[in-house]
Amino acid sequence: MQTWNPEQYATHARFVSDLGQPLLELLAPRAGERVLDVGCGDGALTERLVAAGCRVVGIDNSAAQVRAARARGIDARVADAAALDFDREFDAVFSNAVLHWITRPDAVLAGIRRALAPGGRLVAELGGHGCVAAVREALGIALDRRGIDAEGCDPWYFPTAAEYRARLEEHGFAVDTIELFPRATRLPSDLTDWLQTFAQPFLAAVPAPERPAVCAEVRRRLEPQLRGGDGTWVADYVRLRVAARNLRRAACDAGASSERRPPTRPPGRGAAARGGAR
Ligand code: BEZ
Repeated sequence: MQTWNPEQYATHARFVSDLGQPLLELLAPRAGERVLDVGCGDGALTERLVAAGCRVVGIDNSAAQVRAARARGIDARVADAAALDFDREFDAVFSNAVLHWITRPDAVLAGIRRALAPGGRLVAELGGHGCVAAVREALGIALDRRGIDAEGCDPWYFPTAAEYRARLEEHGFAVDTIELFPRATRLPSDLTDWLQTFAQPFLAAVPAPERPAVCAEVRRRLEPQLRGGDGTWVADYVRLRVAARNLRRAACDAGASSERRPPTRPPGRGAAARGGAR
């Protein structure tokens, strides 16, 4: 299981929010807008939405991260992104580096769409197809050598642009932009720190005494590929960046269940009036 510790996050994962600026620019938040930040973490990026004058709610499944976000003055709540229960409350949903942690994308997108007002926008970035492929492969080899099925403990969902576009459209979004691009990512410290911060589900599958050996093996395998001459580790990230709009119009928006209801007929024009027989 993956857990988040605010101190560990600040030391080894701060680059995640630091690299979120282009996504904020894509959102182009306007003062007064109601914004839901899905997976707000410790609120470092959420704070910039507040600074832009937005009325922001952040949700995260980590109670420790939510406490850290609240300490910044953010209205942060513990919630599961795959079970959002907001109803047309937001002008925009924002999410940075979170949606690849949830392997139920349809549940996430259904909840996000429900949370958005008609015409509301979704601006999100997640790991995309091929993200950390080298790291994943090295972890797979190390676990396989120990008779452990790495696929079974892989926590990540890294879709292609075509797959994610299709899902968005199925959920009633119009996709404005969707872009898959490699983003080699300099790590602030050793690869072992990254593994201990981000790859906990793989390591948890290994008996505790074996974990240092697994990290050392993965590190050795990846060093020629991911470590530069100056000693810096650069992870093989691939990003999927999306801007989409909730197509639902206010006029036909009496509630989610109404979407499947047939249009109401004018009085006197029922089945019989149309010549139908039962
Ligand atoms: C991320 O947080 O962006 C990330 C996490 C795990 C693997 C790849 C990317």
